[in-house]
Amino acid sequence: MNIIKQDNNIFILETENTHYVIGIDEIGYNHHIHWGKKCNPADYYINDIGDENSNHTMLDEYRQELTPFGQTMYRDCDIKAEFDDKCREINLEYIGSSSTKDTLSLTFADKYYPLEITLHYQIFEGLDIIKRYSTLKNTGTGKICFERISSAQFNLPSVKPYTFRNTNGAWGGEFIESNNILDGGYTIFESRRGASNHNNSPYFIAYQNADENTGDVYFASLAYSGNFKVSCSRDLYGVTRVVVGMNDFDFSHTLNGGESLDTPPVYCGYTQGFGDMTRQMNRFCVNHLLPKQFNNETLPVLYNSWEATEFAVNVKQQTELARLAAKMGVELFVMDDGWFGQRKNDRAGLGDWYVNKEKFPNGLDELINAVNELGMDFGIWVEPEMVNADSDLFRAHPDWAYHYPNRKACELRNQLVLNMTREDVQDYIFNVLDDLLSNHNIKYVKWDMNRPFSETGAENLENPKMYSYLHTMAVYSIVDKLKELHPDVAIESCASGGGRCDLGALSHYDQAWTSDNTDGIDRMTIQKGYSLLRPTKTMRAWVTDIAGINKPCSLDFRFAVAMQGSLGIGGDLTKYSVEDLEICKKNIEIYKQIRDIVQFGDLYRVLDIEKDEVLLNQYVSEDKSKAVAFLLANGTRFYKKRIPVCFKGLDDNKQYKLTVQNKTYEKSGAYLAAIGIPLHIRGVDYNEVIQIEEV
Ligand code: DGJ
Repeated sequence: MNIIKQDNNIFILETENTHYVIGIDEIGYNHHIHWGKKCNPADYYINDIGDENSNHTMLDEYRQELTPFGQTMYRDCDIKAEFDDKCREINLEYIGSSSTKDTLSLTFADKYYPLEITLHYQIFEGLDIIKRYSTLKNTGTGKICFERISSAQFNLPSVKPYTFRNTNGAWGGEFIESNNILDGGYTIFESRRGASNHNNSPYFIAYQNADENTGDVYFASLAYSGNFKVSCSRDLYGVTRVVVGMNDFDFSHTLNGGESLDTPPVYCGYTQGFGDMTRQMNRFCVNHLLPKQFNNETLPVLYNSWEATEFAVNVKQQTELARLAAKMGVELFVMDDGWFGQRKNDRAGLGDWYVNKEKFPNGLDELINAVNELGMDFGIWVEPEMVNADSDLFRAHPDWAYHYPNRKACELRNQLVLNMTREDVQDYIFNVLDDLLSNHNIKYVKWDMNRPFSETGAENLENPKMYSYLHTMAVYSIVDKLKELHPDVAIESCASGGGRCDLGALSHYDQAWTSDNTDGIDRMTIQKGYSLLRPTKTMRAWVTDIAGINKPCSLDFRFAVAMQGSLGIGGDLTKYSVEDLEICKKNIEIYKQIRDIVQFGDLYRVLDIEKDEVLLNQYVSEDKSKAVAFLLANGTRFYKKRIPVCFKGLDDNKQYKLTVQNKTYEKSGAYLAAIGIPLHIRGVDYNEVIQIEEV
């Protein structure tokens, strides 16, 4: 790992296996030179930009790290601004660099106007991940109004088309993979809904001839939970570029004199195959991105009451659920929606964060104490950014929700979005949550957010189009402040399932709720999408009573799916038979033996449920002494003969022991990877959790 600065103003970011190379030419223009395998540093040089004619401009061909709007730049730019005198051109020149052993900053200033832009890069020991972001600074006294601010631009090396993998999901079907070949024009992945949403993910994965283990894979993930835009393009010269950052939809950002803005960071990398991409990002997130309190801790097995009791929570039935959960080995009991205000259904109560006395006549502590006496921690659900019109909060402060005075605001799920850009709203939310955590022994908060934004009028702001950015920053800052004051409380990001689990959210929250779809079969696909560029341990996965909507599956099967993240239980345990409770207990015990490997290990997606009809996901400990493989199938379509099932990611030279289909084998890592074990996988509800150990 190194930052190499050459005499000819060429900067090389040397990661574990890659080079990322930038150059500054004599006239101060920035050039992207290379991203990919390492070459001899002395060979890098700045290419001629080429000729111009009346319609072919020099800038058309240019590969840049930073493209401001101006001159003859017609493609997607990184930064577009209007200065005080209405000039909309930015004209930058290079003014200098600074570097340490793992960071590089390149600064540019406008030739006339008071705008300075610094590009920041950071590399990380043992990884091929690069962090990028920019700082925009208004060095004058007047205003600068930005219409577009990206975090980074990427130029991909090959002139052949790349395929872009993203997710094309929805509520209940998050992270469903999509793959688009980009031959020419633009492909956009974005959110316009206020938060990062269930549909597209704020990242790109661009690949050529790639599978899990081979082929060129370029990726970059934006750490931002507001409206984002990933704009991918391929021009006539075959150059594929991607601009990643905040969405310019319904957006502008004002910097007054002396103010500056750090853009949300992007984490990017180049790997051979999707598998290494996932493993790099997983390690990076655990070691460098997740909040420090719990990044190195194994997450507890939790129980969540939502699917069992919905809004009808009360002290008696929650205590009964807690008793059953404790018996099976659950470590954290989380009471979901319904405990506060007049919350009998989703039509009332949001915003009134006081305990409902009909449901909890003696307050929350009666339940919390019972849970603690059963040996479990207690967690609670909140939805701080929202308000029901039927609530004391809204009656007292109707102006606290985003609105336009002469427009009716849409009430999706009967609720409105609080204007978190207001300081009084921020103070109210912070104080309510701080009181809750200060007055009760709560160790876990599930922070939900159940609707997208609309009618985002914010009269308090001079520039209301900054709402998505300011709202997002306010949420992050409240979460950070709560964590600082209550360092033993873990916080989960939930947004109607997986509507806000981008790397921005995961820089502040400790984990995320993946999807409201807890169907064991659907989850295999949803979890694969989650796993691509998000860390395993943040993926909360519950076993519930949804026993396969289209293809029934057993409790064991559902456990084998949910154990591939941070395990939770969410069924109505009061209806479970003695045998079912025993199955839960057995599986929770197994999970406790393997969760270190799952939560911190390297994931190898060996067989894909969509393509192979069989799922084999294998998690391998960092020292390769242990692994756990989840082998699942539910109704293979044709009579499957024995197939050799290979186990990946092990040490070729180590000897391992594993038991599968009731037979124990002792084989080397090399044998298991190349030859494997012939297994007969057929029928419905096939599931095995295979523990592999070095002998
Ligand atoms: C949506 C979440 O995804 C669910 O898990 C649950 O917490 C409900 N909201 C509660 O309203």
